[in-house]
Amino acid sequence: MTSAIIVAAGKGTRMGGLQTAMGKLFIEVAGRPIVAHTWQRFNDARAIDEIVLVVREDMQPAFHELAQQFGFRKKYRMVAGGVERQDSVWNGLAALSDDTDIVAIQDAARPCTTEALITATIEAAKAMGAAVAAQPVTDTIKESSNGEVIERNLDRSKLWAVQTPQTFKVEVIKHALAEVRRRNLQVTDDTAACELIHQPVKLVTSAAPNPKVTTPSDLKYIESVLMAGVHS
Ligand code: CTP
Ligand code: MG
Repeated sequence: MTSAIIVAAGKGTRMGGLQTAMGKLFIEVAGRPIVAHTWQRFNDARAIDEIVLVVREDMQPAFHELAQQFGFRKKYRMVAGGVERQDSVWNGLAALSDDTDIVAIQDAARPCTTEALITATIEAAKAMGAAVAAQPVTDTIKESSNGEVIERNLDRSKLWAVQTPQTFKVEVIKHALAEVRRRNLQVTDDTAACELIHQPVKLVTSAAPNPKVTTPSDLKYIESVLMAGVHS
């Protein structure tokens, strides 16, 4: 069976003062809290059998309330998050049903993800073991270690911005994150963990915009994407 882990236990520090006391995921965009959009997409996705929500301990009642309010009927359970995103993912993995063989890991802060994209990453993960939603980079990217002077131009034609879902055979992501923990490393996403165990990760191009809410300036654009109703 295929499960989703929605990681929603971050602090939203880059959102600054704009957020509510409940955090950036509860800011209302296009008529409902950001995380309610994300949850809805996974609730409705036919390929997903169950959902594990990783949340801050004190936020569990607020999430149960969302399920009531928006009528999310797909089986879900909640676990507490960790200090870093990778710790939250680790806790989510521990809470999967025993018969889960594929897991799609999603940022709660990414509310525009379509069912078509979710399904495409699942198919790719079944074939290759690991897959990630991604888009070719459109900006020209430079490398600098001191933040003052450019050291290197990067060949844009080879650069991809990775998003979520990041979807895996369960044994693959468990092995990869166990290796991260064993070596005491920090990774910004789950596909970086795959590199450590030489696990290839299939890029799945997002056909529709799939932005993440990170700073206040993201809200307007994300609202316009949600209002345009770019569904599946
Ligand atoms: N996340 C998590 N547990 C953490 C850190 C992040 O579950 N310890 C989740 C966030 O809730 C978010 C997703 O991972 O849905 C992507 O993280 P990001 O956009 O960086 O959100 P925050 O970590 O909350 O924001 P910031 O980095 O600005 O503090
Ligand atoms: Mg973060």
